[in-house]
Amino acid sequence: MVAPSLLSADFGNLESEMQWVNASHAEWLHLDVMDGVFVPNISFGFPVLKHVARLCTKPLDVHLMVVQPEKFIQQVAELGAFLMSVHYEACTHLNRVIAQIHEAGMKAGVVLNPSTPVCMLEDVVCDVDVVMLMSVNPGFGGQRFIPSTMSKLARLRRLLDESGSHALVEVDGGVTLDNASMLRKAGVDMLVAGSCVFSAPSPVEACNQLASL
Ligand code: DX5
Ligand code: ZN
Repeated sequence: MVAPSLLSADFGNLESEMQWVNASHAEWLHLDVMDGVFVPNISFGFPVLKHVARLCTKPLDVHLMVVQPEKFIQQVAELGAFLMSVHYEACTHLNRVIAQIHEAGMKAGVVLNPSTPVCMLEDVVCDVDVVMLMSVNPGFGGQRFIPSTMSKLARLRRLLDESGSHALVEVDGGVTLDNASMLRKAGVDMLVAGSCVFSAPSPVEACNQLASL
């Protein structure tokens, strides 16, 4: 399954970008919110997200790269998002934040930066619906995949199996047509793909090709 990331879209042509996404085999639309504090970049905020939510027929996967993401749970729920993912590194009280996301009627995802080990999730994997590994340092599209993500994925798979968690595994950053099969074999359920899809000669074909792997 694949979730194209809006970060690499042409923001001057959101209607046509959403038209191809709606017609594609994409499972979700991935939305990256950045605050310039948790990550060294700023992306888009709720006015843009509301516009996109109106245009997009795919389920919305909202990835918050912000400090204190719990402040925005209500606004993300009001967008109609089905999944809100927060960073382990941004939540002092992660267990509470996960419960609050569920109370707001959404699925909850937890995200790990490349330098955060999988073992930090031992006590939450049974409470979350998605575990997402960053395979680049978050903040920018178009970066190169960090190879050590592969051994981390093996450790995550083991942790999920041993704890009986049914969380989906998502990988975000540097996904390409060249590494997608390897990621699938490593047990990745959802591939987030930004630049590799949006900069392709035919984004819809690139997206469908990733979805078929
Ligand atoms: C990076 C974002 C990603 C980004 C991925 O901080 O979280 O979702 O859009 O872009 P690519 O696929 O170009 O690495
Ligand atoms: Zn993302």
